Amino acid sequence: MIVQPLTSPPSAPNSKTITPSSDVKPWPGLIETYRPYLPVTEKTPVFTLLEGNTPLIPVPYISQQVGKGVKVFVKYDGLNPTGSFKDRGMTMAISKAKEEGAKAVICASTGNTSAAAAAYARRAGMRAFVIIPDGYVALGKLAQALLYGAEVIAVEGNFDDALTVVKNMAKDYPVTLVNSLNPYRLEGQKTAAFEVVDVLGNAPDWLCIPVGNAGNISAYWMGFCQYRSFGKSDKLPKMMGFQAAGAAPFIAGKPVPNPETLATAIRIGNPANWDKAWGAKDASQGEFNAVTDEEILEAYRILAAHEGIFCEPASAASVAGLLKVSDRVPANSTVVCVLTGNGLKDPDSAIKHSKNQVKSGIKPELSQVAKVMGF
Ligand code: F0G
Repeated sequence: MIVQPLTSPPSAPNSKTITPSSDVKPWPGLIETYRPYLPVTEKTPVFTLLEGNTPLIPVPYISQQVGKGVKVFVKYDGLNPTGSFKDRGMTMAISKAKEEGAKAVICASTGNTSAAAAAYARRAGMRAFVIIPDGYVALGKLAQALLYGAEVIAVEGNFDDALTVVKNMAKDYPVTLVNSLNPYRLEGQKTAAFEVVDVLGNAPDWLCIPVGNAGNISAYWMGFCQYRSFGKSDKLPKMMGFQAAGAAPFIAGKPVPNPETLATAIRIGNPANWDKAWGAKDASQGEFNAVTDEEILEAYRILAAHEGIFCEPASAASVAGLLKVSDRVPANSTVVCVLTGNGLKDPDSAIKHSKNQVKSGIKPELSQVAKVMGF
């Protein structure tokens, strides 16, 4: 078949005939969308990058692996403006900090919080200080924080050490803490649960989520509970939290002094939101489980190669966890796995852990290329 080149789109309307469609409303960001559910007033200056409204994507291959008629979706929050779910919390935290007159914010971070804090703080005309564990932040996240104009301080310690420093710093100096101990962070992040219910028409049966500092699992639970209290759903999900096996204080039942995992985003030994997360797990009759780095990598590769979805390794812990405990998922249930961050954040891990390799050293000749292609 010969395809004619298009010189102009078929029946392209001329510019005079284009009118905004009344059916398609531009997304105004999550504070405007969910204003009645959030602690903002007309006095709150809203700083937004139009975050939220991320897709809930069906994942047929993973559904098939689980079997039993279970429908699995991923909430791909890596499609937020800075590439992670942190933008949901940061639009709230920065807007409220500005309202309260802050001139500077500070956070400890394994990378994503620092990128989001930097982007929103700079947009709001504030200084952003970010304290990171030296050598354990993925390349993309570091690149973001630097280019957004954060003042990046790398400490010789892990995330837990960095968090201790910033908590004390915020007590003694004129800087607002924007880690998830800041209550506005969780208020913003709970909107992800609203979006899930808005799309499904009800809460899912299970919510599978990676757990690091344990803010996000707490925020989702707040969101599901609040939405149900407003009659938007008639059930609540079981909260299934997954930690990396080398950084699994919730499985140990106590802080882990030297957390280790290749999923650096969740390389955390002493979660700040310990009690809230346990409350969510218990109230929902959920579970905490650990997944090994190898299980995380397997889910990471499956998501990319079978579903076309590139997330960062920590995010894949939710899917790794579901696959690990899939014998306990009720038949015909609906499961949502949260994919917290974009795969482009961590290109080093993708290249290192892909089983796929570049076929290199090939002459630029048709016969040579065809031969490599197996023709
Ligand atoms: N997934 C990703 C990609 C993350 O960056 C984080 C946390 C989590 C999951 C865990 O979420 O802490 O709410 O339980 N990242 C933080 C940071 C610690 O500094 O960016 P949590």
